[in-house]
Amino acid sequence: MSLRLGDTAPNFQAKTSIGDIDFYEYLGDSWGVLFSHPADYTPVCTTELGKTAQLKGEFAKRNVKVLALSVDGLERHQGWIKDINETQNADVDFPIIADEDRKVSDLYDMIHPNASETFTVRSLFIIGPDKKVKLMITYPASTGRNFHEVLRVIDSLQLTANYSVATPANWVDGEDVIVTAAVKTEDIPARFPRGHKIIKPYLRTTPQPNK
Ligand code: BEZ
Repeated sequence: MSLRLGDTAPNFQAKTSIGDIDFYEYLGDSWGVLFSHPADYTPVCTTELGKTAQLKGEFAKRNVKVLALSVDGLERHQGWIKDINETQNADVDFPIIADEDRKVSDLYDMIHPNASETFTVRSLFIIGPDKKVKLMITYPASTGRNFHEVLRVIDSLQLTANYSVATPANWVDGEDVIVTAAVKTEDIPARFPRGHKIIKPYLRTTPQPNK
C-alpha cells in the first residue's frame, strides 16, 4: 500500500555512496528529505543532485538531512558523483542509495509501472523528526524539481508545527501568515501580539510570529 501524509515513514537499511546506513539512525532527530532519481548519468538528475549539494548550507540551517536514491549500483554512483561535482560546481557529500534490488523504491512506491517498469519516478518525501511523512511530491523523469520550493515547504512545515498558523499561496519566509480557525478572533491579540488583519471572519493574517 502506498504511503500517505501523516503515515510513519518506513525504516530501512541500505548501501549508499557514503557506506551502509540505517535510515532512522541517519536521520536522528533531524528532518529528512528522501528523493529518488530515475538513473545515474542522466542530465536532469545530474542538475538536481548538483543543486541539492549547492544548497547544503540551507538544508543544514533548517536541520534537514538529505538522502538520494537511484536503482543503479555503488560503482556507478561513485563515478557519477565525480561528474556532478565537476559539472555542477558542487560537492555531493550526502548519501545516494544504491537500490539495485529496488527494496527502498518499493517500500516508498517510487516505481510507477505506467511511467517506467524499471526506473523510479522523481519522488520526494519530507519526513519530520517524529518520522511522519509531511509532504510527498512526484514529478516525471522529464521535469527537474525546484529545490527552492522544497526549502520553502520546509520553512512552512517547521513554522506551522510550532504556531497555530498556515501559510498562504506563494508564501515565503518572512511574509504574513494566516491564523488558523482553531484560534478565536478575540484570542488573536494575546496569541499574536504583533498585530493582525481580519480580511474575512475566516481569513485572518498576522506577521510571521517567529521573525
Ligand atoms: C534525466 O535525468 O535527464 C532523465 C532520466 C530518465 C529519463 C529522462 C531523463
